[in-house]
Amino acid sequence: MKEYLKHDEWSIIEEGFKPEYNRISESVFSIGNGHMGMRANFEEQYSGDSLQGSYLAGVYYPDKTRVGWWKNGYPEYFAKVINAPNWIGINIEIAGESLDLAHCEVLDFRRELNMKEGYLERSFTARLKSGKEVAVNAKRFVSLPAKDIGAIRYAIKPLNFSDSIEFTPYLDGDVHNEDSNYDEQFWDEISREIPTEDEGYLVSKTKKTGFVVCTGMKFSLTQGGRTVQLNPIPSEKKQYVSHTFTVDCKEGEETVLFKFGCNVTSRDYPEAELTDICKKLLNTYAEKGFGVLLHEQSRAWGMKWATSDIIIKGDVAAQQGIRFNIFQLNQTYTGEDERLNIGPKGFTGEKYGGVTYWDTEAYCLPFYLATHEPHVAKQLVVYRYKHLQKAIENAEKLGFKNGAALYPMVTINGEECHNEWEITFEEIHRNGAIAFAIFDYIRYTGDHEYMVEYGLEVLIAISRFWAQRVNFSEAKQQYVMLGVTGPNEYENNINNNWYTSTLACWTMKYTIESLGYVKSKNEDKYDDLIAKVNFNFEEETTKWLDILEKMYLGEDSKKGIFLQQDNFYDKELIPAAELPAEETPIHEHWSWDRILRSCYIKQADVLQGIYLFEDQFDKETIERNFDFYEPLTVHESSLSPCVHSILAASIGRREKAYEMYVRTSRLDLDDYNNDTDDGLHITSMAGTWMSVIKGFGGMRVQNGEAYFEPFVPGNWEALAFKVYFRGHLLSVMATKEKVAISNQSEEPIRLHLFGARHKIEPNGVVEVDAK
Ligand code: BGC
Repeated sequence: MKEYLKHDEWSIIEEGFKPEYNRISESVFSIGNGHMGMRANFEEQYSGDSLQGSYLAGVYYPDKTRVGWWKNGYPEYFAKVINAPNWIGINIEIAGESLDLAHCEVLDFRRELNMKEGYLERSFTARLKSGKEVAVNAKRFVSLPAKDIGAIRYAIKPLNFSDSIEFTPYLDGDVHNEDSNYDEQFWDEISREIPTEDEGYLVSKTKKTGFVVCTGMKFSLTQGGRTVQLNPIPSEKKQYVSHTFTVDCKEGEETVLFKFGCNVTSRDYPEAELTDICKKLLNTYAEKGFGVLLHEQSRAWGMKWATSDIIIKGDVAAQQGIRFNIFQLNQTYTGEDERLNIGPKGFTGEKYGGVTYWDTEAYCLPFYLATHEPHVAKQLVVYRYKHLQKAIENAEKLGFKNGAALYPMVTINGEECHNEWEITFEEIHRNGAIAFAIFDYIRYTGDHEYMVEYGLEVLIAISRFWAQRVNFSEAKQQYVMLGVTGPNEYENNINNNWYTSTLACWTMKYTIESLGYVKSKNEDKYDDLIAKVNFNFEEETTKWLDILEKMYLGEDSKKGIFLQQDNFYDKELIPAAELPAEETPIHEHWSWDRILRSCYIKQADVLQGIYLFEDQFDKETIERNFDFYEPLTVHESSLSPCVHSILAASIGRREKAYEMYVRTSRLDLDDYNNDTDDGLHITSMAGTWMSVIKGFGGMRVQNGEAYFEPFVPGNWEALAFKVYFRGHLLSVMATKEKVAISNQSEEPIRLHLFGARHKIEPNGVVEVDAK
């Protein structure tokens, strides 16, 4: 754990240059706008330790799979959203000496990620070997309102000399991924162009996938607020264009280079027009100027915060932590493009390849449902609808038939990319999360039409999969599900994982209900769908009902505990608290063999199921299972504590809920797991958000109405949050004494607060005593 970042309510601040933490800071200070994003690499040359990373959403490369023993059904590749051409570079040379923080004395270094307005700022004083000192202030952002555009204001001031300074703004397409499986270069150059004295363009194409990207730059320079006429020397080589110019700089006077970047891709625009479009956009936005763009940026972020902010009073570290999580979630996904999804590391690193996991449905969807208009979350569910055909093909590869779908564990275009057999073939619970997301989306938004248009087709295909994945055990006279891996990846190839089987049954039941619903709402659509997917209602639903009736779900009925899997009780059950500190995290210290045989649970498994279907269990059942599983859970996935936190809150264990919350709320800011250098845990940030809203806020949705049971945990003085719910913006405010909910919309709403139903008029408030 590292605690080198300053606590502040709205900003992330690093003071003092710590090259040994540079990769961590590069992740933490990342910026993004849903379309593109980048690590906090320096603009000027840096020869110290750094992970260069600039990413364009959806622009990926199919990196050839590396495995020891090939198994049928494995994917050929792992899709990676790759490091894209670098547009931020500005090299600086002072009297023949490069400004490189690895080779000079760095004083007054400060980095700030301003989350309120959405920009990154870095300032420092550098004392070069020659003794010359310069003060630099660099501010940059990628624009939220203009998704293709980024802007930099790079100011430099000589402190103890007057001399000429050489500037080289450049574009560099010769970039690679550190995690490339075969050290391949992923980009080919198509063309490069330096059409004017202040512009440059690179057109690059990804190998194999053929995405074409035009990256452009345009710059200007001012001194004393006045634009300086430059005489740049253009330079170009393969995958690189630059302009170099020298400017006389006076001691104590600031010279400011404005550099605008633009990335347009063939995903969004016709390939043949990319350069023209890039030029047009770049010139339009450069014309507006840095100040105006920053103002628009700040306004756009203001609108994001207006519906997604959480206020915590009395604990600045917690306030900063939750805002950081919300900020990163909003930087990663905006819901404007149905082809995009949420990579577990967003735009902040290479790990997990920027591609889609079950994390989206299980953890992220609730955030976007509650903080944005419904179309944003809808894009996430439609994304899976669009991949249905691929999920059917994926299941076919594994031997399933008749339109059964197995969604991939990891994907960018619907095809499976994951190649560890115990996960690829066995961690099939992801299929259930995708079915559950349909339910969750409709439950929250009330958009029942979604079921008619998209949902049912997906549900049928997933139910078909479950019906074929189980088998009837003669010995048990019940259906069983063999050879699975639950969310707890510290056990593989187990039988009858309670979570997976429960989810499978729920999906079949929900599909049968939904068939009835669609038929009653729109018989024509229903008939069309039945014909389209060749659904044999009688035969298939009879089978599903039989499975529902005879499914084996492991349970210790005496103790009232659901069994994670058949042999869980055979394990030596020693609480995780007794693990010697030097042996944790166990995945770093134990052999895999030892982990697999141990009772230690990587992440919520049975409890994940209880969390999803909470309303089906009474408080005592939740308590018993919580008390059994929580002590055995090591939470070595950052997706775990949030689920425990929510359940703890729901059974009144407020301290436990808070303890679990604290484990992830500042996971990346304090580098708890020693892995922030790889990138941020974006999907776990959504889990942290859920702990506040569903845990401390006690928010649930049932029968079209919202329920709240808020409390203020720990040493916090007050908690306030906003949620969108069915066209209403609700503002929930809680102190240790009072709880108030206001309806900031034009229609009245009926909602439940501590079990009592209230009608709140437009702009009205209901206030009650805290509990
Ligand atoms: C977790 C998975 C998760 C993946 C990506 C793994 O460590 O066990 O549940 O999908 O990380 O976040």
